[in-house]
Amino acid sequence: MPVYKVLIFTKISELQEFLAQIRANKKSIGFVPTMGALHPGHISLINTSKIVCNVTICSIFVNPTQFNDKNDLERYPKTPQIDIDLLKNAGCDAVFMPSAEEMYPVKDETLFDFGYLDKILEGKHRPGHFNGVAIVVSKFFNIVKPDQAFFGGKDYQQVMIIKALTKKLDLNIKIVVCPTLREKDGLAMSSRNTLLNAKEREVAKIIPKLMNQVLPLKEKGMQIEEIKAHIVSELNKRGNYELDYFAICDTETLKELNSFSEAKHHIALIACYVGKIRLIDNLLLS
Ligand code: PAJ
Repeated sequence: MPVYKVLIFTKISELQEFLAQIRANKKSIGFVPTMGALHPGHISLINTSKIVCNVTICSIFVNPTQFNDKNDLERYPKTPQIDIDLLKNAGCDAVFMPSAEEMYPVKDETLFDFGYLDKILEGKHRPGHFNGVAIVVSKFFNIVKPDQAFFGGKDYQQVMIIKALTKKLDLNIKIVVCPTLREKDGLAMSSRNTLLNAKEREVAKIIPKLMNQVLPLKEKGMQIEEIKAHIVSELNKRGNYELDYFAICDTETLKELNSFSEAKHHIALIACYVGKIRLIDNLLLS
């Protein structure tokens, strides 16, 4: 496998000097923001960017403003050298790895208003989380000024927030949504999976298993309340997990549905703790 060079930037000014040259050469810029501990899901975003843009920039920054739980921030896996090697192998052109001081020279207390969108599901269970995501992504968009930015559909609500943010700030950036990459047993790849011990990892595979039951149940004519009850009762049979939410929502608005007839297209979303590790997943139903 060929190993490419990846340029590493830690300072905004140096990254911007490099980006100015790219733009002067009329090359398009693809941007993949991440918090590192990279896995094939992240790399699939890099690969997609490489197909549609001339130059691909990845950022690695564990953004403190989006963690509502301090322990979660401290626990978050950090593997910078492995990440750099993965990005090299993927042919990513540059990686931006700023310090917290570089990103936040002064405390950023910007408050975004996304209406109901940041108050439901993830927003409800992780207060302030999407405000922190919006702060850091708007900063990155302002620094990198990419033509296209790539996000994973695994974080469905995050994608909706980013799209709303781009609209709100009148940014001319195309938001590309990429499919969720999964482990062999169906568990959605996540940096947090490495924090699961062997027993917890066994429990975690129930999540995609249950999610895969939703569509067949819907097709059998089961209503949303019954499907929810089924999921909860299946989870209750296993220990060592705690359900934050399971919801079936309108794919367009993410409003929670009581009946399938309330929306044209449906998505099932789940968040649950396995031990101390919080995992999320979703599945488009139609
Ligand atoms: P992080 O969790 O590192 O994810 C970075 C990007 O990778 C996100 O767009 C996420 O949806 C995507 N991703 C994660 N797991 C994936 C999988 N299994 N398949 C496909 N894509 C996957 O999301 C964040 O970081 C942060 O909130 C960020 C946007 C970087 C802002 O700090």
